[in-house]
Amino acid sequence: MKPYFQDDAVQIYLGDCRDILPSLPKVDLVLTDPPYGIALANHDPNGRRSNRPYTVKNDDTSQIGQEILDYYTATPTISFACPEKQWGGNWNQYLVWDKGGGTGGGGEPTMYWYRTWELIQVRSLGRLNGQRDSAVLHYSGRGNELLLHPTQKPEELISYLISKVVANLILDPFMGSGTTLRAAKNLGRKAIGIEIEERYAEIAARRMQQSVLPLEYENKGRTLEGLGSKKSSADNSPMFNL
Ligand SMILES: C[S@@+](CC[C@H](N)C(=O)[O-])C[C@H]1O[C@@H](n2cnc3c(N)ncnc32)[C@H](O)[C@@H]1O
Repeated sequence: MKPYFQDDAVQIYLGDCRDILPSLPKVDLVLTDPPYGIALANHDPNGRRSNRPYTVKNDDTSQIGQEILDYYTATPTISFACPEKQWGGNWNQYLVWDKGGGTGGGGEPTMYWYRTWELIQVRSLGRLNGQRDSAVLHYSGRGNELLLHPTQKPEELISYLISKVVANLILDPFMGSGTTLRAAKNLGRKAIGIEIEERYAEIAARRMQQSVLPLEYENKGRTLEGLGSKKSSADNSPMFNL
């Protein structure tokens, strides 16, 4: 199968990961963020669903994520997970990602407390790279990064996770905007990503070509050449167009 995009460090495939995975080489680490099966939707503070486009393809079921995680049972894996709906199977460790204030729950009326944390499930990681750390990871969920996907994860957090594992080739079958691939590439690792929606495969491909981030990006001006219009740092809405 022909990649949608490739360079020296990464390969991006556009399509359903269930079709593409059988043709891929063996990987050293699966680091992924599958649809949780929670039918993600944004709520306004009155509990009504807003019309903002906060949806993730296949998020009406956790079966696809579970199927892929089961396919890689023998491979070291780090997977984001919904605390209320964890992935099945045998996992060695559970990490808490503390996203910080101002995140979690939206206006969902059944959430009495803002859930400002997410779960990360870990299995079979082999040799640790570096020292042991706390299993509570503090990385801002609001971040200063350009928002490219409704459930985009902080690049810094993904870089940290990759850095703890001795792995050269990393796979993200639910790549979204390509955070795993970008982080892997920054760390000199190789990565393969798969995404079912072309708009995100395209964003990820462009993200791979940003070898040096523009100054405005580093200065929180929130632009990334070729990816969208300039936004103010107060505007945390997604950049993508539907
Ligand atoms: C939770 S998001 C990942 C976001 C990513 N961590 C980021 O930082 O941008 C899951 C992604 O999986 C994609 N997806 C859903 N079903 C898929 C499938 N069967 N094969 C490949 N990608 C799929 C969705 O389109 C979505 O972009």
